[in-house]
Amino acid sequence: MSKYVQVAIDGPASAGKSTVAKILAKKMGYIYCDTGAMYRVVTLFALENNLSLDQPSELVKELDNLVMTFDYVDGLQHVYANGIDVTNDIRMPDVTNHVSKVAAIKEIREELVNRQKAISNSQNIVMDGRDIGTVVLPNADLKIFLVASVKERAERRYKENIEKGIMTSLDELQKEIEDRDYYDSHRKESPLVQASDAIKVDTTGLSIEEVVNVIENELKKVI
Ligand code: DC
Repeated sequence: MSKYVQVAIDGPASAGKSTVAKILAKKMGYIYCDTGAMYRVVTLFALENNLSLDQPSELVKELDNLVMTFDYVDGLQHVYANGIDVTNDIRMPDVTNHVSKVAAIKEIREELVNRQKAISNSQNIVMDGRDIGTVVLPNADLKIFLVASVKERAERRYKENIEKGIMTSLDELQKEIEDRDYYDSHRKESPLVQASDAIKVDTTGLSIEEVVNVIENELKKVI
């Protein structure tokens, strides 16, 4: 058991994980780690350096040359790859469309899981992803599995994209989310599954504040 408090939040794409994890971490004074961002940084790195995702040995080798760091600017998480701020670049559709493939590569998962475990052993943390409660932090103090209907998740991402000036169609987003759900839950390596001791929270129809309150109440029971 870690001497630091560990909160694991897992669930499918766009279920609201990062939004609630960020708010919860801020309220509790914990750090927040977005593990999806780490898979996205590797994907961007592969795309920019023309490294094959089908024959990933080169990419796996090059990972040693990829330093990822995180910090907060006005409360927003920024992600850096070898010192360059890639916060916005890792959300572009090209990265989103390739990231599931990267997240299915065994050696990449092993490396990123090691980096994630190291981060969680230094401070109280809220970590979100797909395998946090099952693989990265199996002894987490609290495990939450967030879900929401596909329709609502597509609508949320649609609004987020518009705010960021990224134009996408709602139907396309819904299809993309369904495809990603399927891929993430059926891959061989650490598929998305609810940990047996995780608490399932369905966020459909709930406000962000309501979801945060539910999780905060659960956390108060265990710390
Ligand atoms: O949460 P997100 O959309 O930023 O995640 C990007 C991809 O990374 C998604 O396809 C799932 C994958 N992922 C994963 O396999 N394991 C994690 N711990 C986090 C994300």
